[in-house]
Amino acid sequence: MDRISVVYATKTQHSRKLAEAIGKEFNIEAINAVENPQPKPADLLFIVGGIYACQCNPDLLSYAEKLDTSIVRKVVLVTSSTSINQRSQRDLRSILEKKGIDVVDEITCTGGFLFIKLGHPNKKDIQAVVEKAKEISGSCLK
Ligand SMILES: Cc1cc2nc3c(=O)[nH]c(=O)nc-3n(C[C@H](O)[C@H](O)[C@H](O)COP(=O)(O)O)c2cc1C
Repeated sequence: MDRISVVYATKTQHSRKLAEAIGKEFNIEAINAVENPQPKPADLLFIVGGIYACQCNPDLLSYAEKLDTSIVRKVVLVTSSTSINQRSQRDLRSILEKKGIDVVDEITCTGGFLFIKLGHPNKKDIQAVVEKAKEISGSCLK
């Protein structure tokens, strides 16, 4: 079992950038949930996605439906969105928690859309996400 895994789905590539930066930090390949819909076992899984019309990315909801505690026990949600209030993957969290998967933390990041928060996530935003991911993995996988 790989200790850490990172999966993403994206509409405007922000989640890909975040997932790839996290993957680079841990020396693993970021997995596109649409191209590779079959989950692989991991101790800690980062799930990276945006918010659209107040909803989670449906591709990540389908991915989460396929997970169970024999595949992964701990998940960190990584969310980018324009609005601070909507940086919560409520439906995704609910699917995971119903399966007994521990959602240990959520990392949030600004992700622009059209002219709102244009230019985000920028290098600094991405680095902050990576730093938080490192910190969480350090405490989760002791
Ligand atoms: C069609 C569309 C709808 C969006 N709706 C919301 C929204 O309701 N609330 C919000 O905070 N951000 C919204 N956003 C912004 C995205 O959540 C943000 O840009 C995110 O970083 C996109 O991630 P992605 O590039 O991986 O798809 C929307 C973006 C798009 C493209």
